[in-house]
Amino acid sequence: MANTILIGMQWGDEGKGKIIDVLTAQADIVVRSQGGNNAGHTVIYRRVKYVLHLIPSGILRRGKVCVIGNGVVVDPIALLAEIDGLRKLGVKINKNLLISDCAHLVLPYHRMLDEQRELRRGRIGTTKRGIGPAYGDKAARTGLRMSDLMQPIVFSKKLQAKLIENNRILQALGAKPISFREVNESYLAAGENLRPFVANTVVYLHRAIERGKKILFEGAQGTFLDIDHGTYPYVTSSNTTAGGACTGTGVPPHRMDRVVGVMKAYSTRVGEGALPTEDAQLTQMLHSLGREFGATTGRKRRCGWFDAVATRYAGMINGIDELAITNLDGLDHVDPIRVCVRYRLNGKPLDVPPCDASQLANCEPIYEEMRGWNTPTRSARKFSQLPSAARKYVKYISKLTGAQLTMVSVGPARGETIVL
Ligand code: GDP
Ligand code: IMO
Ligand code: MG
Repeated sequence: MANTILIGMQWGDEGKGKIIDVLTAQADIVVRSQGGNNAGHTVIYRRVKYVLHLIPSGILRRGKVCVIGNGVVVDPIALLAEIDGLRKLGVKINKNLLISDCAHLVLPYHRMLDEQRELRRGRIGTTKRGIGPAYGDKAARTGLRMSDLMQPIVFSKKLQAKLIENNRILQALGAKPISFREVNESYLAAGENLRPFVANTVVYLHRAIERGKKILFEGAQGTFLDIDHGTYPYVTSSNTTAGGACTGTGVPPHRMDRVVGVMKAYSTRVGEGALPTEDAQLTQMLHSLGREFGATTGRKRRCGWFDAVATRYAGMINGIDELAITNLDGLDHVDPIRVCVRYRLNGKPLDVPPCDASQLANCEPIYEEMRGWNTPTRSARKFSQLPSAARKYVKYISKLTGAQLTMVSVGPARGETIVL
């Protein structure tokens, strides 16, 4: 395997963590390039469930190095809690984790501003992890970075200035101001604990490439949550699409060899914003099986039919070479199964999702129906072991998406995977 970018092709939670865990077997380094602890990537290995938020999902495999790139926004307190949690589960974390000194910090006022904004009408339905305000400061060039945290005097000075500004805003919103002393102490203490991991990760990755190491770029969120290409304003605040893997790590485009797209066999979304194929009955059925509850916030995910208009567009934006379809088993007892092949907007057919949120909300899906297979698929380990209707379904949605199918996942565990 050469350098591979892995991208979610829908609205996040496609099963990226599971596929990363499988692909890490062939990689040397796994890198996160964007997002923060809004992500929740689930890996199930030896019956233990691990949910990764900031740490790349490759951490469970021995001998692999995990990198948090410059494009990630890091909440140091949350990161330490994640490291502690993983250590308690027996995961070794020392020289196998690197954090970019250029990564921006998520501070308590980011979380509080996120919470305050979510109280308003027109809310996004965020994870309330402070992601939007942290990226906002980055774009406004007023953010604090890991490199600041590594210099206590510099950090304290910058924090003090930021708190003067942000406490005024918080008070105007009716929230409690933040204590400088508390934040300063807790962040500096966290910084000391994280110091051994902080490095120039750009240089590390380039040297690794020179030595022929294989890198896996772990996308967080999904294509339609991308700040530019997603269903704005109901998006996250980073580039979740393939380009983000370059800007968020400092690895240039011509060093990337392939892009793997992960998509669920149906659609899900958590938070506000249009989900054109949303279906109440399918949602209820999946929830009744204990499926589709958010890995980060525990919120119920909204569910809908497979949307080929969306995934085809995701294929285009990301240059998807290969497809991994997950959660096929979620449709084991659904019959018939619907697939959205086109939208209709104001009586006219549409082959790409419109950029405008209200137009997207008015798009009516045009469906084709396929026969279900009414058989459990979880024990299938070869493509030929899938029922013929299931084979037909995955081939059809891959063809509609326009990329080559290379993996089908039929369960959450590492082994419950069919490699074509
Ligand atoms: P991510 O954010 O893209 O990594 O996805 P999440 O971990 O948030 O959500 C995917 C959910 O589906 C998790 O609960 C996974 O354990 C689970 N999962 C992934 N692939 C499969 C699959 O093929 N079958 C089943 N039953 N569960 C899966
Ligand atoms: P993974 O990596 C699904 C959604 C939130 C909200 C919007 C903005 O696990 O696929 P934010 O907190 O980022 O400002 O929220 O984006 N969202 C996700 N949905 N999976 C995720 O990550 C998500 N990260 C953010 O629900 O709608
Ligand atoms: Mg998730």
